[in-house]
Amino acid sequence: MLAGILSAARRNNPQQGITGALICRHDVYLQLIEGPAEAIDSLYARILSDDRHTNVDLLLTEDMGERMFPAWAMLDDEAPSLFWSAQDVAAGALEKASPEELRAPFLRLSAAHPGAG
Ligand SMILES: Cc1cc2nc3c(=O)[nH]c(=O)nc-3n(C[C@H](O)[C@H](O)[C@H](O)COP(=O)(O)O)c2cc1C
Repeated sequence: MLAGILSAARRNNPQQGITGALICRHDVYLQLIEGPAEAIDSLYARILSDDRHTNVDLLLTEDMGERMFPAWAMLDDEAPSLFWSAQDVAAGALEKASPEELRAPFLRLSAAHPGAG
């Protein structure tokens, strides 16, 4: 399923000026999407109507001066230590997380991929 999502992302995102990263763990996808607001709105609408998930939460929206993943149509992460445990997620850790806590795994991912800027 992850492969299918990434392949759609890498096919579609470049032409929309969208970059980002997708962290997948314990049946939870934590995704950072960056790009022009209209392109993001339209992608988010597509994701909302995707039946590959049971629930989507918008955790944080902000204006960003610089992209975190300028070189990545959608980077996936292969370092499992970057994310909350299954118990944390079940206990609502993502909903309770501060903007800094939500940004942290993406900052680490971005730093681990110098090509990502
Ligand atoms: C968690 C999640 C993240 C997704 N991220 C993207 C994305 O970044 N870009 C994208 O084009 N589709 C993404 N999709 C897939 C879209 O929901 C949709 O299936 C796809 O954009 C349709 O593209 P197509 O018409 O080219 O097949 C994501 C789906 C899920 C469930």
